[in-house]
Amino acid sequence: MFRTNTCGELRLSDAGREVTLAGWVQRSRKMGGMTFVDVRDRYGITQIVFDTDNAELHEAANKLGREYVVQVTGRVAERSNKNHNIPTGDIEIIATGLKVLNKSDVPPFTIEDDTDGGDDLRMKYRYLDLRRSCVRGNLELRHRMAFEIRRYLDSKGFLEVETPVLIKSTPEGARDFVVPSRMNPGEFYALPQSPQTFKQLLMVSGFDRYFQIVKCFRDEDLRADRQPEFTQIDCEMSFVEQEDVLQMFEGLVKHIFKYVKDIDFKDPFPRMTWADAMRLYGSDKPDTRFGMTFVELKDLTENSGFAVMDSAPYVGAIVATGCADYTRKQLDQLTDFVKRPQVGAKGMMWVKYEADGSIKSSVGKFFTDDQIRTWLERGDAKPGDLMLILAGETMKTRKQLCELRLEMGSRLGLRDPQKFSCLWVIDFPLFEWDEETQRYYAMHHPFTSPNPDDIALLDTDTGAVRATAYDMVVNGNELGGGSIRIHDAELQDKMFRLLGLSEEDAQYKFGFLMNAFKYGAPPHGGLAFGFDRFVSILAGLDSIRDVIAFPKNNSGRDMMIDAPSQIDDSQLDELCIRVEIPEKES
Ligand code: AMO
Repeated sequence: MFRTNTCGELRLSDAGREVTLAGWVQRSRKMGGMTFVDVRDRYGITQIVFDTDNAELHEAANKLGREYVVQVTGRVAERSNKNHNIPTGDIEIIATGLKVLNKSDVPPFTIEDDTDGGDDLRMKYRYLDLRRSCVRGNLELRHRMAFEIRRYLDSKGFLEVETPVLIKSTPEGARDFVVPSRMNPGEFYALPQSPQTFKQLLMVSGFDRYFQIVKCFRDEDLRADRQPEFTQIDCEMSFVEQEDVLQMFEGLVKHIFKYVKDIDFKDPFPRMTWADAMRLYGSDKPDTRFGMTFVELKDLTENSGFAVMDSAPYVGAIVATGCADYTRKQLDQLTDFVKRPQVGAKGMMWVKYEADGSIKSSVGKFFTDDQIRTWLERGDAKPGDLMLILAGETMKTRKQLCELRLEMGSRLGLRDPQKFSCLWVIDFPLFEWDEETQRYYAMHHPFTSPNPDDIALLDTDTGAVRATAYDMVVNGNELGGGSIRIHDAELQDKMFRLLGLSEEDAQYKFGFLMNAFKYGAPPHGGLAFGFDRFVSILAGLDSIRDVIAFPKNNSGRDMMIDAPSQIDDSQLDELCIRVEIPEKES
């Protein structure tokens, strides 16, 4: 046998056994006449001792470099100096044999949890980064979650069906990645932004319950929670209403938390309408780990002579518990925070409700203490609390206040990554108005069904129509989203028209789906979770990069394989493609 045990396996009860381990040299150190070598594999680290009794072996051990691959034979012995930080810390192996299986160049960074490697370096040498136990742990978590997802969905009768990767453009709202077709010069496939249309076709085929853990591709600006290729848990069901879908997938989320994190959510997840989420949190993905919901003050601030408030259609505030002792400097920092271009507010107003009941405020010139007390009362503020106020255009100001609320939540330690708060946001608007192009866009995608109660409004008050769409939100992240679909060709046709697609356009882009709907499409609906986001939330991480084996950086580049890259002229010729890169504007 190449090895009798792994490097994470041996305990005190194994003392006296002859064993053979194989792995990588994490580090070695000399103490007295002895050399200690830590050998690591996927399962853990074991300390190997080389003493001078065997001079040849001792000398060989002293020549080992970091990340050499070795096979070591020896006897398990109790350690005098125990390491309580690792499971194998009670024992060590007194070496009787050592074989170097492979040498290693000095790695560009230390392969330990607390590494000295910067982001770029670790991405370039991702295969070494993946040797670090914290990174490997994330992928182990990912595996366990994928396994539990399949177990749950299988138990509910879902079939995993693969759908093609070379397809026609899908309508999820981002740019497509495209692939030229050599056999059809001048024509392109698109990589799926999601398998949306295919899963709907599978419902037409009568598959009833479909799922797929599937790669999706979107050419959009990248952020911590976005990658150009990412993985969805994509699901669809037939003969369902919204309630059926919510219950089924709330069940999935609860199953994962229970079997992967040992967290039991007994109560149903709260549900909040989109309108309430915007009103109370200024976001369609509110972080509900903490309160600090918005207090609307417009009616209490009118005709003060203070132009900032008088001219604003919206005045909103949050109450930060126990922060009345904030210093001028701290308040200035918060003002700077809301004025950052990413937030975009013009300024911030504040009221300190001092512990002794008195009031200090940045707007004291314009309002009496009694007036200000009515604001504090509405916000349920107590002596010792701080009220922070923003004013301006309604939606913009709500979004700015949302950022301020999250910042205060972070400052006050209210956003514990080990605490999980899940909710459904429901009743999304069907359409989103775009000022720039002066037209409506589908807020979710064009196959989303309007709320049956609002169908009459489609022509008269298009912007007010609610969708039968829902998002699962966890700790302020959009974990997943979906909708009940339109299964009626006529209504679908109308939807395309409202979205400004001509009959020809709709036929060109989605004719296959429209045709399929003519052959008995069942009522259906579903959703998709972002799998990478799900793993990163459970791992307590901010970025999904850390839960992807080989991620791309923020410029969409794989630093390790150096992609994207240019291709040979001969390849371009075969594809009938000529590349012209416009000169950069200076
Ligand atoms: P949607 O576009 O909301 O819905 O995507 C579903 C979920 O996928 C995740 N996600 C991403 N994760 C990482 N990087 C990205 N670039 C990225 N984009 C999206 C999010 C999101 O909630 N076809 C519909 C689903 C349906 O209607 O059934 C869809 O794709 O967690």
